[in-house]
Amino acid sequence: MELVLGIETSCDETAAAVLEAGRRIRSNVVASQVDLHAPYGGIVPELASRRHLEMIQPVLDRALADAGIALGEVTALAVTVGPGLVGSLLVGVSVAKAIAFARRLPLVGVNHLEGHIAAAFLEYPALSYPFVALVVSGGHTHLYHVPAECEYRLLAKTRDDAAGEAFDKVGKLLGLGFPGGPAIEREAQGGDPEAIPFPRAVFSDGSLDFSFSGLKTAVVHHLKGRGGAAPSSEHPRIGPQQLRDICASFQQAAVDMLVERVMRAARDFPNTRVVVAGGVACNGVFRQALKAEVEPEGIQLFIPSPALCTDNAAMIAAAGAVRLRLASRVDVARGRPGLPACPRCGAPAEMLVRARGGVACVRCAP
Ligand code: KG4
Ligand code: ZN
Repeated sequence: MELVLGIETSCDETAAAVLEAGRRIRSNVVASQVDLHAPYGGIVPELASRRHLEMIQPVLDRALADAGIALGEVTALAVTVGPGLVGSLLVGVSVAKAIAFARRLPLVGVNHLEGHIAAAFLEYPALSYPFVALVVSGGHTHLYHVPAECEYRLLAKTRDDAAGEAFDKVGKLLGLGFPGGPAIEREAQGGDPEAIPFPRAVFSDGSLDFSFSGLKTAVVHHLKGRGGAAPSSEHPRIGPQQLRDICASFQQAAVDMLVERVMRAARDFPNTRVVVAGGVACNGVFRQALKAEVEPEGIQLFIPSPALCTDNAAMIAAAGAVRLRLASRVDVARGRPGLPACPRCGAPAEMLVRARGGVACVRCAP
């Protein structure tokens, strides 16, 4: 029986999971560091890596216990190798390498964004290719066309802030704490999404790229016009209802931009499906808005449940299981970096894509 142990430490979640046969989640343990970083209004990389060091062993133990297996029963390992905070990634990669080396197990390095996309297969085993995939998180807003397994064509990405980053920065400006996304969604529930006409960025060249920094700046200017940064005792001119309206209007502008890009991309590819993943995909207004747009056009939408949208290790194990099947393994014994090597140029590659005559890194693939 294939039992892949997935490990994820790229940002502020220490996570481990056991996945059976590439699809069945036997355990999925996530230790969040939100409380640790909240007082700083954002993730402090040095603190994140230290906490990963403290948590990785208990999280691994718990993942094995929840799965009802011993370490000796694991058949392969998958670990996030990037993108992410270097010191944080190092913890997961070092632990995965040590286990793989000691137990003589295959180990595969997984791209974090590919992991997010793979989460959709855990919840929707019938999902098939091709699809358009939006990865929308605190670090990324990337739109891909995925015509086949492990083939990713980048269609667009943010030119400045990621969508989740914009939620977090605006949350901080409004004194809502960290992370901003869930707090803004909560406040927005009582607000009017049309109260403030915040801008929706569009590029004159027709690009599908995203931009969120103008929206964030518009919130700053709106607050300045009202005499303060937060509705605290220091800035009494912003009342609770104004706060709710700002949150609802900001959220609506961000959601409109995301939905517009996804729909334009989906229409460009006939018979496509839409997959959305990453922390911002937890947002209920976004989920509803996208659903309302795709349904009349007969486009199937696949958004994993919130626990699989935010960072977790089951998604890493899922993406790793596919890569293991394709045999792009890290040669632990020779101490190569935790990335599969491109068969053409030999360089470590985060993502190998299908190219004419086999697989290749994105630089070598035409
Ligand atoms: O995927 P994720 O857990 O970590 C990264 O890979 O970045 O995403 C975290 C991001 C944060 O920016 C957080 O504010 C955002 O996802 N987020 C949300 C919501 N829940 C989490 N954004 C908007 N609405 C939400 N409900
Ligand atoms: Zn993520």
